[in-house]
Amino acid sequence: MKKQSFVTTKNGQEVERYTIQSPGGLLASILTYGATLQSLVLPSGRDVVLGHDTMADYERQDKYLGAVVGRVANRIGGGRFTLNGREYVLCQNNGPNHLHGGLAGFDKKVWQAKTEGEMLVLSCQSADGEEGYPGKMEVTVRYWFSEDDTLWMDYTAKSDADTLVNLTNHTYFNLEGHSSGSILGHTLWLDSDAFTENDEFSCPTGRILPVEGTAMDFRRPKPLGQDIDRKEEQIHRGNGYDHNFVLKNPSLTAPFAKAQAGGVTLTVYTTQPGVQLYTGNFLDGAVPGKGGACYEKRCGFCLETQGFPDAIHHANFPSPVLKAGETYHQRTGYCLTEE
Ligand code: BGC
Repeated sequence: MKKQSFVTTKNGQEVERYTIQSPGGLLASILTYGATLQSLVLPSGRDVVLGHDTMADYERQDKYLGAVVGRVANRIGGGRFTLNGREYVLCQNNGPNHLHGGLAGFDKKVWQAKTEGEMLVLSCQSADGEEGYPGKMEVTVRYWFSEDDTLWMDYTAKSDADTLVNLTNHTYFNLEGHSSGSILGHTLWLDSDAFTENDEFSCPTGRILPVEGTAMDFRRPKPLGQDIDRKEEQIHRGNGYDHNFVLKNPSLTAPFAKAQAGGVTLTVYTTQPGVQLYTGNFLDGAVPGKGGACYEKRCGFCLETQGFPDAIHHANFPSPVLKAGETYHQRTGYCLTEE
């Protein structure tokens, strides 16, 4: 494992960059800032994830490129929730809703790193009341490659009071190479029969709808661009795909998604009940990407494995409550193969 000093944040915190190598020669570079996957380079030299070259660019961007997102990924309707009879008020940083843990979520923390053999272990703390959430929380994310070149991300969290948690990684993939432009030609298969319906602010209404007969149907592989402009309210509301799909069979051995482009296949596994398919609809090229790349709208896509968004407000969704002293655990693996 290689360790380099990356640079300091504007607050003077040291950020490090760790590079881990898979048995087949893939290289994953991870920053301690946001526990961010900065690059994922295939043996051919192709880098398939979006990222930035400088710390200043990471601090300027608001797209969560490659970052670990928490305490609660995705939306909390109205930016407030009630737990154990008490109301907690969060910031509304996405229309009327709370998004991705707030203004200073886990993506903006400098995590502590240690190595365990070829595994990178990143930890951070979140104070009681931070971003409005109850309970002091300890979080650990482990990154490693398995023998078959799958990059695993394993998340655990513990709190000293009842709280909410939903952790994910916000990597944008472009299997043709991070600077190759539109991902609309990528084909995607998703093992999902249903998705959670969104309101006009991309927050769940609570209804779970079948994908059958809609643009959301990826049960047979199809290009991401095939139905993205269909005149359907859900697609229109998301400005493209920005929806939580209900996974039929969360598993660490049977994948729930396969994406393909330019001779590269991405296969994804998870323990989580849902995945946010997000087609980079709000990428705008505002902050330079790696090597000066310009990441415009739909130049990358995310498969954010997660609990359902806004689950605290919907009794029919799996609960996002983490009880004091209990351990939250999620694991996701991204396997990349080249032809
Ligand atoms: C959300 C999008 C949001 C994006 C921020 C995604 O996870 O679902 O609505 O714009 O993150 O980059």
